[in-house]
Amino acid sequence: MSSQLVNIGPLSQPVSLGVEPATFSPEVEAEIDRHLAKYPVARSAILPLMFIVQRERGYLDPPGVLYLANRLKVRVTDIWEVATFYSMIHTEPIGKYHIQVCKTLSCKIMGEGKITEHICNKLAIKPGETTPDGKFTLSLVECLGSCGTAPMFQLNFDYHENLTPAKVDEILDSLTNV
Ligand code: FES
Repeated sequence: MSSQLVNIGPLSQPVSLGVEPATFSPEVEAEIDRHLAKYPVARSAILPLMFIVQRERGYLDPPGVLYLANRLKVRVTDIWEVATFYSMIHTEPIGKYHIQVCKTLSCKIMGEGKITEHICNKLAIKPGETTPDGKFTLSLVECLGSCGTAPMFQLNFDYHENLTPAKVDEILDSLTNV
């Protein structure tokens, strides 16, 4: 049985998304090559390559997905399976500032609801939405591993902890003209 599973053959298939694959600068291609060289199987580099494509294109758009499928020699569906599992991978455009509020138990008990409501009222958006100017996207996510300093959110790559509505105001107001 196990040998049958191992010998399923290459997963690569012709795919069509109605777009051409994305192209990248020689520097980015070299960075991608360096990651691919670390792994005996190309598909093992799926996460680092996704981060690079997302960094370069803002999110995993169809040309970026097709590029990844071609470089990793996997199906487009394999890319989507991974991309839609991780909250840090985006399959839609997001704002310049991505606010990810932890909604898991410790944060929930310590006031996540009040923090989320305050952000929604301040930015006039609901979780999952982006402000019309493209500046802020609000998401609710599972535990970010900072339970001892709940409630907290991640703003792009930075953690903000022990949040209060006043602290949220201070953080978001500092970004208004940035
Ligand atoms: S429960 Fe919020 S960081 Fe863990």
